[in-house]
Amino acid sequence: MTDSQADSQMEKIEKNVSDANLEGVPISNVSGASLEGIPISTVDSPSAVLELIYQLKIKDVMKTAVITASGSDSMRRIQALMKENYITGVPIVDERRNLVGLVSIDDVVTALDEGNIHCHAGERMTRNVIVLEDDMPLSFAISYLNKYRYGRYPVVNKKNELVGILTSKDVVGTLLAEMNREVLRLEKINQEKGKCASASADMEFATVQYDFELAGRASTEIKKALKTRNIDPKIIRRVAIASYELEINQVVHSVGGIMRCSIQPDKVIVVASDTGPGIADLNLALQEGWSTANEWIRSLGFGAGMGLANTKRVSDEFSIDSAKGMGTTVRSVVYINSPKKE
Ligand SMILES: Nc1ncnc2c1ncn2[C@@H]1O[C@H](COP(=O)(O)OP(=O)(O)OP(=O)(O)O)[C@@H](O)[C@H]1O
Ligand SMILES: [Mg+2]
Repeated sequence: MTDSQADSQMEKIEKNVSDANLEGVPISNVSGASLEGIPISTVDSPSAVLELIYQLKIKDVMKTAVITASGSDSMRRIQALMKENYITGVPIVDERRNLVGLVSIDDVVTALDEGNIHCHAGERMTRNVIVLEDDMPLSFAISYLNKYRYGRYPVVNKKNELVGILTSKDVVGTLLAEMNREVLRLEKINQEKGKCASASADMEFATVQYDFELAGRASTEIKKALKTRNIDPKIIRRVAIASYELEINQVVHSVGGIMRCSIQPDKVIVVASDTGPGIADLNLALQEGWSTANEWIRSLGFGAGMGLANTKRVSDEFSIDSAKGMGTTVRSVVYINSPKKE
């Protein structure tokens, strides 16, 4: 869910809450008012939870078996219903099952105190009941639970017929079950990803002489592939140095070539091979500070004569094969559990 979707959901909730017009419904009339709202935010929860609370509907969570009474039932009868069914609130419906009010345990206690226990429920019930609609997303129930702290919410359909009742216990129970399912699903996806990521991989990239826009792509992709494999960052850094130096050498010194990388369970092998012009003296080329780079290449920041030496330093295995007029092939191997300190 995007931030703007979450915002518009919140606007709807705010509107619905103000439309519900709570004035005239004293909190003391509400039994179970001490029940805390559930500690889930409809705005800044993790996206998996947000998706759940917007996808699940009130009708997926509510209880449909509702103990109800009619306005002509006595408060004594309602007290008995509460006792028999272990409930603290009874919705009052008319003959078409339209919700007309709610009697809470507080209403019963007050009726007892005032000697009105034989009165009709219709006279003693709370009329301005905060209700939920069965098609609303669960996010509404969570907002209501946080905002009003009522113990239960009757649920009506579009025709105002009572179709269920919802308590914080129902919300918590359903959410826990759904979150459990979602976490299992995400864990499975992660395991699959882990399996792919730990598998061996072979990559190949072409380099083009003096193409500085493309230069660095091979080493970047190699680094990315290693990062997804939970490999020690120090090892990744060493492979990245070797592959970058060899890639740049192909771009600035050769006619262009191929960078190959093989990620294996125990090592990463980088092989840079090109078709010319080759290196006349390998000993000189491996010396720190020795370079044939011209002024232009130096002006671009290359040509310090450090690349091959650096590559050798970070590699557990290093070999170079070249001769003037031939291609150059450099092989660098870094062990994944290498004891070598860079
Ligand atoms: N693929 C190649 N083809 C031809 N010559 C190469 C190649 N790689 C390296 N060389 C030669 O070896 C020299 C040393 O290479 P090295 O990478 O150590 O230094 P550099 O590229 O000159 O400078 P730096 O790498 O510090 O920017 C180069 O100047 C170049 O003459
Ligand atoms: Mg170099």
